[in-house]
Amino acid sequence: MNDNSGFLAGRIALVTGASSGIGAAAARVFAREGATVVLIARREEKLAALVEEIQAAGGRAAYLVGDVAKPQDAERAVDFTVERFGRLDAAFNNAGIGGDQTPMHLMGDEVYDAIMDTNVRGVWNCLRYEIRAMLATGGGAIVNNASVGGLVAIPAAAPYVASKHAVVGLTRAAAAEYAGQGIRVNAVAPGTTRSEITVDWFARNPGLEDLVHGMTPQGRTAAPEEIAEAAAWLCSDRSSFVTGVAMPVDGGFCNQ
Ligand SMILES: NC(=O)c1ccc[n+]([C@@H]2O[C@H](COP(=O)([O-])OP(=O)(O)OC[C@H]3O[C@@H](n4cnc5c(N)ncnc54)[C@H](O)[C@@H]3O)[C@@H](O)[C@H]2O)c1
Repeated sequence: MNDNSGFLAGRIALVTGASSGIGAAAARVFAREGATVVLIARREEKLAALVEEIQAAGGRAAYLVGDVAKPQDAERAVDFTVERFGRLDAAFNNAGIGGDQTPMHLMGDEVYDAIMDTNVRGVWNCLRYEIRAMLATGGGAIVNNASVGGLVAIPAAAPYVASKHAVVGLTRAAAAEYAGQGIRVNAVAPGTTRSEITVDWFARNPGLEDLVHGMTPQGRTAAPEEIAEAAAWLCSDRSSFVTGVAMPVDGGFCNQ
């Protein structure tokens, strides 16, 4: 149920990659906490169903179909939000794709290009239009979805690791640049989370799920909602003195 006294009440928020996994969970958590949510991803049917679900629970939501790797789609998403709801207060730049678990020397250039296009250029595209919109209304809060792969190395995932380190770099650079103008920029760094990316990853790599559990002090993977809760907190005034951090949400994975 949508909560008009929630910690995001009255906020206008954009969530990218909202058609599944962590993004869909974030759309629900943000709406539950009172935000109006604008969802962007590439799969219209899933977005439409999620908007309907949020509205049925008393929330405000809208969607548009777009590819964050294209600057014009990122611009359209921000323009749509401002035209429809008046401003942009918060953004969760979550859209991203995984790697294909191939040793670096055997990996094709097309894998590198695809990962960099979505994970780095996508965040770059969104960040810049979001910042422009937030500067016009005096500030806001942005959260980028990095990964534990943005903080430490993961074998056989070199382009993914490089892309997520770049997301952390963009986060820190933007945080430093706009702190004085009322914009906070942080990242979440999730550990392995049960979503389409990991279901596919585990299906293609027998034994990997148990291995991941064994490498995680809490002994399990995350539910998408656990990452969404951290992103919602970082987008809210409850984290008003936090900027430029990449916060692990990883069951202790990076702390060993
Ligand atoms: N699942 C994990 O274990 C894990 C761990 C760390 C970080 N992450 C990050 O979390 C984010 C969300 O992933 P997820 O696990 O929920 O997987 P997911 O595949 O369920 O969700 C990814 C979402 O991004 C969308 N998307 C992908 N490319 C896009 C593009 N170019 N334009 C617009 N939308 C696009 C997909 O349609 C989908 O909605 C990603 O950035 C991923 O790297 C995931």
